Amino acid sequence: MTDEGADERADHWVDVGPADKVREDRAFCTEVQGCPVVIVRCGEEFYAMEDRCTHDGESFAAADVEDGEIICPRHFARFSLKTGEALTPPAYEPARTFKVRSENGRVLVESPG
Ligand code: FES
Repeated sequence: MTDEGADERADHWVDVGPADKVREDRAFCTEVQGCPVVIVRCGEEFYAMEDRCTHDGESFAAADVEDGEIICPRHFARFSLKTGEALTPPAYEPARTFKVRSENGRVLVESPG
């Protein structure tokens, strides 16, 4: 089995709820197998990353989202939703991202393992 095939295994994905719960440009925070995860929808795209700012651990629950970036509500570091890259100080370490997709009106996030 290839890695790509492994990605399609049903047990690799965790259903985190209905897609309409994830509103446009808003942070939706949940837990996936004990890992805090923030999910954001920008148009038709969904993004998921660990819900923990790499600067000082703040949750992104109250974060603003602009132009594919999520802004930590505490000291305003910006992260790329697509790659998790820390784009502005005071954060320098990237955030962990997860694959996410919607299927049949549900949001599925890859297992944090
Ligand atoms: S805790 Fe996020 S920028 Fe400081």
